[in-house]
Amino acid sequence: MENQKKRIFSGIQPSGDLTLGSYMGAIKNWVALQDEYECLYCIVDMHAITVRQNPAEMRRRTIEQLAQYIACGLDPQKNIMFIQSHVPQHAELGWILGCYTQFGELSRMTQFKDKSAKHKDNITAGLFTYPVLMAADILLYQADLVPVGADQKQHVELCRDIAKRFNSVYSETFVLPDPFIPKMGARVMSLANPENKMSKSDPDGCIYLMDKPEDVMRKFKRAVTDSEMAVKFDKENKPGISNLLTIYCTATGKTMEEAEAQFAGQGYGVFKPAVGEAVVELMRPIREEAQRLLADKAYLEGVYREGAQHAQYLANKTLSKVQRKIGFVGR
Ligand code: TRP
Repeated sequence: MENQKKRIFSGIQPSGDLTLGSYMGAIKNWVALQDEYECLYCIVDMHAITVRQNPAEMRRRTIEQLAQYIACGLDPQKNIMFIQSHVPQHAELGWILGCYTQFGELSRMTQFKDKSAKHKDNITAGLFTYPVLMAADILLYQADLVPVGADQKQHVELCRDIAKRFNSVYSETFVLPDPFIPKMGARVMSLANPENKMSKSDPDGCIYLMDKPEDVMRKFKRAVTDSEMAVKFDKENKPGISNLLTIYCTATGKTMEEAEAQFAGQGYGVFKPAVGEAVVELMRPIREEAQRLLADKAYLEGVYREGAQHAQYLANKTLSKVQRKIGFVGR
């Protein structure tokens, strides 16, 4: 894997079950990138504990998330797939980078402001320094590009600022990463509340990748729309229908024009179940493959062990360089 390919790092927290939004907005793009780039795809469990988690649930979701990554088409032979807490270099570099990050910078992070408002009784230091750990994730591997949703752009920019600062104090050490918001990515909104992003914590508006077909159909039939009749893309005035159209096009590969033409003159009573069916068909092989993999714990263990080993090898190169530059005695 030592070659000229650009390097990519991205991760998802095992803080909730993966959703159709995670697939269409992130993982589907990761799959498209795996041949052209050298990719590290991580399950960021250390980020997940910045808010309280149920331990048994998180353990289950972590393994399930790995199975789902593979079932979605990520090839463990082509990508380094691993669990963040299995590579202690993340925590080590995180501590160091925290000493090159300003309190004021972290105070300006909008996600911190939102999350601390939501978890008023548990605003931990970890929640506050979360972007520093994320910077360590990225910089450890000298990643060039970081595929993220728009909500994470600010964190990648902070990562870049930290890297720049470190480089200017100690000489070139880190590659400066760029956020990579792929054109193809679909921003999937909640089915119950189409003004908001589909979220793992909103079961009614959310399709989980492991949902059974009948649950998927029920949620689509109940999807919030509007009082008109026309199946037309109009984000401002018809957020619900526009979201369903986006989902339909992403699931079927049709263009928006094709989809609008297909449903012209038909009511929502025809359109909504059609979207549900397209999603059921899209998810069926993913769900079945994930279930098959989950029955083979030894295989999954092999994947995450090998991934962690490979990641540690790369991470150590950066970490030892950093330790030497800042004045730590070599081990
Ligand atoms: N903070 C990201 C999110 O919640 C997850 C994440 C952690 C991440 N470390 C990362 C994403 C490094 C990209 C790169 O979505």
